[in-house]
Amino acid sequence: MEAKIKALREQMEAALASVQSKEELANFWQSYLGKKGSIAGLMKGLGSVAKEDRPAMGKIINEFKQQADARYQEIRAKMDELELAARNKSEQVDITMPAVRRDAGALHPITIIRNEMVDVFSSMGFEIFEGPEIEDDDHNFTRLNVAKNHPARDMQDTFYVADDIVLRTHTSGAQIRRMDTGKMPIKMLSPGRVFRSDSDATHSPVFHQMEGLVVDRNITLCDLQGMLDEFVKRLFGGDVKTRLRPSYFPFTEPSVEVDVSCFECGGKGCGLCKGTGWIEVLGGGVVHQKVLENCGIDPKVYSGFAFGIGIERIAMLKYGINNISLLYENDLRFLKQFKD
Ligand code: PHE
Repeated sequence: MEAKIKALREQMEAALASVQSKEELANFWQSYLGKKGSIAGLMKGLGSVAKEDRPAMGKIINEFKQQADARYQEIRAKMDELELAARNKSEQVDITMPAVRRDAGALHPITIIRNEMVDVFSSMGFEIFEGPEIEDDDHNFTRLNVAKNHPARDMQDTFYVADDIVLRTHTSGAQIRRMDTGKMPIKMLSPGRVFRSDSDATHSPVFHQMEGLVVDRNITLCDLQGMLDEFVKRLFGGDVKTRLRPSYFPFTEPSVEVDVSCFECGGKGCGLCKGTGWIEVLGGGVVHQKVLENCGIDPKVYSGFAFGIGIERIAMLKYGINNISLLYENDLRFLKQFKD
């Protein structure tokens, strides 16, 4: 039996030396230390050993078993260590490598200009008040002093949703909604999308406007011009001036078209201002008495001014964009130019 153990021990060492993988190691464990393994076999064989030799033999087998187990543990630990080292190596990251850059988005030019305009007007105390894009005839036209058969309805090519419901043709309906709240005084800014059946290089069926309305005691056209002077200086730069030209809107009287001195040529005349030295930027005027009355505001006590600015127009002027459709095509080559 001793000879058998000796042979087995040598065999075991040889088997261990050839173990390459965890799987092979597990097989080793099965064939030596498992329930049906060689060492268990030796134990069974004890029955045939002479009674007096059994304790000594048993001890030898036990020692062999412990030894086999120790060798097994040792190799397993070494394998674990190697495996961990290999994993650490394969998962290693070089933190000094430059990161892969992800393209960050940028604000759309219309959003940039709208934000700039909101900033300027907010600093003057204007508050945002938004109206609905789908508007009724009453707010979009009638109470703004544009009666059903008023020829001014032809000024704006309207999309009708139903008989009395339109896609708003301007943000002026928000004036009525704000005055209806009855809270005085009013200093309202109303940006939003508007819709007109019109399309060419400078007109789009969907575009954006920014409405302004101020109603208080003793508000005059001078207040409008003073405020707009400040506005265009902040938006276009220090030396830009404004000029008012008489115009017509049914909801303002008097009505004005507001020009700024050309910020490209300083007023000498260039391609941008078509040689005139002036660029038209918005429409406005003194709120018509009838409009105040339509909203239950006494025109003997209160007066106001209103204006409407086309946001696309300002963006096109400021950035030198020659076709409005560029603003809606979402061509990345165009949009990327507006990254900070
Ligand atoms: N709503 C007018 C337009 O769309 C602009 C405007 C607003 C004019 C307020 C006067 C006062 O053309």
